[in-house]
Amino acid sequence: MAKQITVSGVRPTGRQHLGNYFGAVLNFVKMQEEYNGYFFVADYHSLTTHPKPEDLKANVKQIVVEYLACGVDPNKCILYLQSDLPQIPELYLIFNMFAYLGELERAATFKEKVRSQPNNVNAGLLTYPVLMAVDIVIHKAAKVPVGKDQQQHLEMTRDFVARFNNLYGVQYFPEPEAFNYDSSLISIPSLDGEGKMSKSKGEHTCIYLADEPEALRKKIMRAKTDTGPTVPNSPKPQEIQNLFDLMRLVSSSDTVRFFDDKYNDCTIRYGDMKKQLAEDMVNYLTPIRIKIEELSANDKLLNEIINDGGNKARQSAAQTLKDVREIIGIKSFGE
Ligand code: ADP
Ligand code: TRP
Repeated sequence: MAKQITVSGVRPTGRQHLGNYFGAVLNFVKMQEEYNGYFFVADYHSLTTHPKPEDLKANVKQIVVEYLACGVDPNKCILYLQSDLPQIPELYLIFNMFAYLGELERAATFKEKVRSQPNNVNAGLLTYPVLMAVDIVIHKAAKVPVGKDQQQHLEMTRDFVARFNNLYGVQYFPEPEAFNYDSSLISIPSLDGEGKMSKSKGEHTCIYLADEPEALRKKIMRAKTDTGPTVPNSPKPQEIQNLFDLMRLVSSSDTVRFFDDKYNDCTIRYGDMKKQLAEDMVNYLTPIRIKIEELSANDKLLNEIINDGGNKARQSAAQTLKDVREIIGIKSFGE
């Protein structure tokens, strides 16, 4: 049976953090074994915030390096830059006809941007979900590994696809599903205890894959806690739950149980818990950080990988555009 297709990307807006890793990239690494994987750097998507050209270039390289350091393997999947596919803007134009103003305005991510950057509510932000849908359908993907924050975008993608298929009476594009190996989509909390970890929220709220051990220890020791439970088996406040959630990602189950028992009998010392978490985090991330450092010095290899991935991804995208033009009746007289 033909392998299913999976597509996903990360915006080049800074160094990747634990949320990107556990929500997205770790899934890429597992999925490349069983799926036809297309993993890319969503550079067009990052233009909504008008980055400086030199920052954008550096961040694109950073994402490629980090993908590879995490184990995304160009021999097992196709790794490319979104902007290397000229078919993306073409299909984006076509898909804009299937997206309605009301639903775009209602998207949670759009409303959040209207709140957080009222002076830059550009049309690119409004149609961000259309561009994302196009990234996915350009390779006719069935599964999309993303974090929980992207769930609504996936629902919108399914709607656009359904409208396209209905209008033209075809079953051309599959309706893609958001995916995580752990059955449900995840959201890694920010270290400040408020909302999800995000590249745009600032240095001290994120654990970056490339963080040096000392920086990691400092951030974790500074994470917010309280005075500790006084009643046995009490529910955990959000910031304490967050620490346990992080521990579950990088520590052994015995370690988690040890601190959970201490919490439940009110003898927990958060300082000890954070020290343990910091050490486990350092051990978990050090091999990735070392690979990031090594790969960063190898521009020649990075260029080869991206050129090769671009060639392969363009072939798949060109086939889709050819089919779509045929389906919608855009065909020159000579053909
Ligand atoms: P950011 O929000 O940090 O700028 P991106 O928007 O580039 O990151 O997201 C890239 C991928 O990482 C997406 O699949 C997104 O769902 C996932 N992701 C980002 N932050 C988190 C988080 N805190 N928890 C889980 N997944 C996340
Ligand atoms: N919108 C995603 C984010 O902000 C990034 C992204 C762009 C993406 N295109 C995609 C993710 C296609 C999955 C598939 O995180």
